Amino acid sequence: MSLFRTKNLDQMVATSKAPGGLKKVLGPMDLIMMGIGAIVGTGIFVLTGTGSALAGPGLTIAFIVAALACGFAAMCYAEFASTVPVAGSIYTYSYATMGELVAWIIGWDLMLEYGLATSAVSVGWSGYFQSLIGGFGLHIPAALSAAPGALPGVETYFNLPAFCIMMVLTAMLSLGVRESARVNNVMVLIKVGVVLLFILVGARHVSPPNWQPFMPFGFSGVMSAAAVVFFAFIGFDAVTSAAEEVKRPERDLPIGIIGSLAGCTVLYVLVSAIMTGIVPYAKLNVDHPVSLALQYAGENWFAGFVDLGAILGMTTVILVMAYGQTRIIFAMSRDGLLPAALSKVHPRFNTPFLATWIVGIVFGLLAATIPLNVLTEMINIGTLAAFCLVSVAVVVLRKKRPDLKRAFRCPGVPVVPALAIIFCLALMTFLSKITWIAFGIWLAIGLVVYFVYARHHSVLGKTGATAETVV
Ligand code: ALA
Repeated sequence: MSLFRTKNLDQMVATSKAPGGLKKVLGPMDLIMMGIGAIVGTGIFVLTGTGSALAGPGLTIAFIVAALACGFAAMCYAEFASTVPVAGSIYTYSYATMGELVAWIIGWDLMLEYGLATSAVSVGWSGYFQSLIGGFGLHIPAALSAAPGALPGVETYFNLPAFCIMMVLTAMLSLGVRESARVNNVMVLIKVGVVLLFILVGARHVSPPNWQPFMPFGFSGVMSAAAVVFFAFIGFDAVTSAAEEVKRPERDLPIGIIGSLAGCTVLYVLVSAIMTGIVPYAKLNVDHPVSLALQYAGENWFAGFVDLGAILGMTTVILVMAYGQTRIIFAMSRDGLLPAALSKVHPRFNTPFLATWIVGIVFGLLAATIPLNVLTEMINIGTLAAFCLVSVAVVVLRKKRPDLKRAFRCPGVPVVPALAIIFCLALMTFLSKITWIAFGIWLAIGLVVYFVYARHHSVLGKTGATAETVV
């Protein structure tokens, strides 16, 4: 039974409001900016190349399929976020609905999603950074330019730029949310500006015959591309992990999640349509497909701007992902499932200082030493699994606590949560077998840690009197 012990929701909300907690400084615009900051990045700037090779011009449909999966899941997220505005995202929500073991698995899963996403995007950042400084004749020594084995035929040992950007952003996050959010807002404006510039400049160069055949590899090609470009939408859920630092969570969180997701979907569909309209899809499978499209159109000057925007875009993605990661660790530590030192709030900066630095250093080292393809393989599966679980949880909470005040209600329950699960599972089936195996191993390690450490240190386990149980 104790595996399914659940936290008391009312008590959780009360704890989050107790003095000494995180500062409540974020408003709705900060959240939309944070969402876009997390969403627009490597997915649109790098993975559209792989997506075009898999789906052809049908990449636009792939983006819509992935957006639908995220949209249905976002409705569920928004209901939870507006009901349970405490740090920790769906880890916390599932603790209150499906019990400690499921919450642990989700928290473990989210560490994979956010952590590896920061590493993967840092590697993408490093590639664009090196290309940019290369334009000025500057070069990082080959040995320090990439992870071991990342470049065939070149001896590489350590991706120094990827590690450095992680350290800079970790320092910013550890010094305070308000400051980081402000820097984030400026970078998001520049990045969205660059994407809009691409749309305006690129639209003039579209040649409709490039859209024929529209789906050269059929619908299964489109689905395979959707399973890859799904990565482009990861991040809107990071908004929910800021719940405890939002001034009016009931109203602002749903606006933040749904607003940022909808905005990005429009941008992605336009960008992929224009890209495949300018360049024949077979030529787009490169690591800078967006700027390639402008070079192809002879707009070299604008292509340079796109490179710069991609760097800034990826910077904000790393920032928000690292932020989400530290807040989930904060929540798990406060619950006793991870060591208590990880939820210590710094007296001066009001941030989980130690957790922020541990996350930054660990995932910075992974970014520096593991090739991008290995990192990205794992991210989508972890996220899709988490989305399935949050969709189950929304239905469980409706049944278990129909009385709870919900500032935002997911429409069409249980149909919408069911659609979220169906879409996410469908995308998961298009991921490779090795990814499934690696994911299984990660979960198995998580279970060992739970039974050896977390279960015995759980605050809920020690103060069981306040717990309700569900099976
Ligand atoms: N959605 C984020 C990106 O595309 C993770 O970089």
